[in-house]
Amino acid sequence: TEIMGVFGYPIKHSMSPEMHTAAFKQLGLDMAYHAFEVHPEFLEKAINGIRGLGLKGVNVTIPHKVAVLQYLDMVDDLALEIGAVNTIVNMNGQLTGYNTDGEGYLQSLLPFIKSDIKQMHVLIIGAGGAARAVAITLAKYGVRKITIANRTAAKATELALQCSKFCQSKDVSMEEAEKHLSDYDLLINTTSIGMTPHISQVPLSLDELRSETYVSDLIYTPLKTQWLSIAEKKGAPVLNGLGMFVQQGALAFERWTGKKAPAEVMKQAVLRRLN
Ligand code: ATR
Repeated sequence: TEIMGVFGYPIKHSMSPEMHTAAFKQLGLDMAYHAFEVHPEFLEKAINGIRGLGLKGVNVTIPHKVAVLQYLDMVDDLALEIGAVNTIVNMNGQLTGYNTDGEGYLQSLLPFIKSDIKQMHVLIIGAGGAARAVAITLAKYGVRKITIANRTAAKATELALQCSKFCQSKDVSMEEAEKHLSDYDLLINTTSIGMTPHISQVPLSLDELRSETYVSDLIYTPLKTQWLSIAEKKGAPVLNGLGMFVQQGALAFERWTGKKAPAEVMKQAVLRRLN
């Protein structure tokens, strides 16, 4: 049996074990996936443990996505640009870091958007790790225009500057974004505002929302945040974060196994946990 897993702290709420176990079973693979609670103090030892124990690969989650880079042998370009790793592949003791969060998001977005994403003006709310993955992936993919709004303006400015290598990019204040909401074709909430248990909070007022604007939230607990609910009532198409979670896992699975991931089976496994 080949062993894979996820390193995080805390880790007990992770749905990755169910999701990957369902995928292994579907494909008849002799593989197992375990959630490892790794205290930040022991991250380096845990990473060495991947080599020592011959784990095939691991996912890395909060709070280790940035700190882990220093312990790897190689980091791929996109992960380096994002500055965070969520997937490690072990090739004969050589550890390579990847970031499948942004690509996972893009994979979940493509079937949802009926027009050309590259022509869109996208507003990203937040400038943390998830925002960096999404913004940089969309910018590199060829999205024309990306604007960042964040509570801490300096972080929005920094991320906008980095995106400007690949697209037209700027930062705005939250107030400005709310006031000129009709400028945007797609809104993406990358903050945790609205996540269980704070389900009544919204990241940005939707008073000025047009029904043509796509509204997307990376949160999937709950599946429909208050923010998405308001957008839906205004007639806007809405997308939750479940697809991103499944697709980031599917991309990691494909890196480890070399096989196409059974994404629908993985999604159903997560939904069983959520319901
Ligand atoms: P993640 O890896 O999930 O993106 P993170 O890197 O800690 O987590 O980033 C969290 C993001 O959510 C940041 O943009 C943060 O805003 P600040 O940069 O101002 O801290 C945003 N965020 C979290 N809680 C928030 C709140 N209550 N109000 C506004 N923004 C919040």
